[in-house]
Amino acid sequence: MSLQKVTSRDIIEKKKKGEKIITLTSYDYSFAKIVDRSGIDLILVGDSLSMVMLGYKNTLSVTMDEMIHHTKAVSRGVTNALVVGDMPYLSYKINKIEAVKNAGRFIQEGGAEAVKVEGGTEICPTIKAMIKADIQVMGHIGLTPQAIYQFGGFLVQGKTIEAAKKLILDAKNLEEVGVFSIVLESIPWQIAKIITNSIDIPTIGIGAGPHCDGQILVIHDMLGIFTDFKPKFLKYFGNIGESISQALNDYRDEVINGIYPDREHSYEFPQQDLNKINKWFENIDICEEAHKLS
Ligand code: KIV
Repeated sequence: MSLQKVTSRDIIEKKKKGEKIITLTSYDYSFAKIVDRSGIDLILVGDSLSMVMLGYKNTLSVTMDEMIHHTKAVSRGVTNALVVGDMPYLSYKINKIEAVKNAGRFIQEGGAEAVKVEGGTEICPTIKAMIKADIQVMGHIGLTPQAIYQFGGFLVQGKTIEAAKKLILDAKNLEEVGVFSIVLESIPWQIAKIITNSIDIPTIGIGAGPHCDGQILVIHDMLGIFTDFKPKFLKYFGNIGESISQALNDYRDEVINGIYPDREHSYEFPQQDLNKINKWFENIDICEEAHKLS
């Protein structure tokens, strides 16, 4: 079944209709294809790939070129979902020109239809410049992992009255400037509910409770592939890591015990020709014949 490509307008429309928005991350062609097939609305090529794909300890290490490389792979696998490229650390906070150029690379080279940036009111002028350049932008507030050193770690945000008020105002300013949706990460569910009810664009929660307009998870987390740590909000919807280990053990055992590959998984040479080969082989000096070829 081929559906139409989801647009940022469709994402906003879903909130108006009261329909939940289902989103996930992906980082490569094969996963993106599977995710797209399951009717996910939006696929984020998250900078979380720094950790789950590249093995860095946080998201600060992944570069623009690496993000573009993975975005290209995801775009090639997606027919329906909206593809959003996640702008990495320092790619949009130095100056507006660089920010617009880097955002444009996600669209032009990566094949994404939108970008995501982390930050609240302070990032609004940059977002404005991107939108002016016809680039669709998704916001991200709360626990913004590119600021972990400022926060002191992967800590829940918006826990004080002042911090909660700032989140609510940040969301309003992001809406005003024209983002089509906002990721709310690791904030109390009551604050996420206030934000969701106070803006017309969708909120996409991760660790922000049930009242957001949509949800996002890192695919390697929710499938139990990346298990280095488990935040409170994370639910495992599969245990693919275990399944992979089981499959690898079976493969190793079958090769050791001569079970794999069997005839069914091997190519056949015609028997009458094989007799000719055997006869030829009996009557030649293999070294001499091989030397003739060199
Ligand atoms: O990088 C990422 O995967 C993200 C999501 C967790 C929202 O930013």
